[in-house]
Amino acid sequence: MLHPEFFDLVGNVRSMRRLKPDPVPEGLLMQVLNAGVQASSGQNTQPWEFVVVSDVHAKAWFAEQYKAAMESRFSLSREEIAGGDSKLSRQMRAVLYQIDHLHETPYLVLVCGLRDWPFKVPPEARVGLAPPNFGAVYPCVQNMLLACRAVGLGAALTTMHQVFEDELHAYFEIPEDYGVVVTIPIGWPIGNFGPVRRIPAEKKTHVNRWGQRWDQPAV
Ligand SMILES: Cc1cc2nc3c(=O)[nH]c(=O)nc-3n(C[C@H](O)[C@H](O)[C@H](O)COP(=O)(O)O)c2cc1C
Repeated sequence: MLHPEFFDLVGNVRSMRRLKPDPVPEGLLMQVLNAGVQASSGQNTQPWEFVVVSDVHAKAWFAEQYKAAMESRFSLSREEIAGGDSKLSRQMRAVLYQIDHLHETPYLVLVCGLRDWPFKVPPEARVGLAPPNFGAVYPCVQNMLLACRAVGLGAALTTMHQVFEDELHAYFEIPEDYGVVVTIPIGWPIGNFGPVRRIPAEKKTHVNRWGQRWDQPAV
């Protein structure tokens, strides 16, 4: 069976940062998480775990930390962002909305990955904590974003929690052998889904060797 509608869906998974506080059924959230765990992982280790945050106090705590982290990372001049009409200004307005309303989001999903040294790192170079298994967690996250889109939920991939990851571990009692890779706020979107704009693959593709471009055939 063919699914040509997939290509519309995959081109329509924008970051949705403006979300309604309206509740999302638990069953629907679990459907999204179950789409995540269909992803592939090296040797099928499935090294992901999720912390679903719905408690109002926990969401308020996370939102406060996230806002401080964003403000320390970006110069979020609200006056400048409010006035601008560039693509970046529009995106930053959505980011500001997100940080101001994060505590109202129905669910914040912390996607955690088991720490594991990549095999190419030799034992003598393995100092400190291993990185979480990014290679497995990201396909899982992308499946979740696709699933959200498929059921009409808004979601956005965020990583700024890295700035306060120690506190995050302590607050949610996440064991040290897991890292929090991505936080996904999930809720019903305010506003419409729309197509993403990306550089087409033809402009990112080389044929047989780097530099021989797909869209500029050798003469
Ligand atoms: C590795 C990675 C980290 C990201 N971190 C953040 C983040 O911390 N906050 C955020 O708002 N968006 C984050 N994003 C989302 C991107 O900013 C967004 O997908 C990109 O700008 C394209 O916009 P679109 O999804 O609306 O098409 C991240 C995406 C990736 C893949």
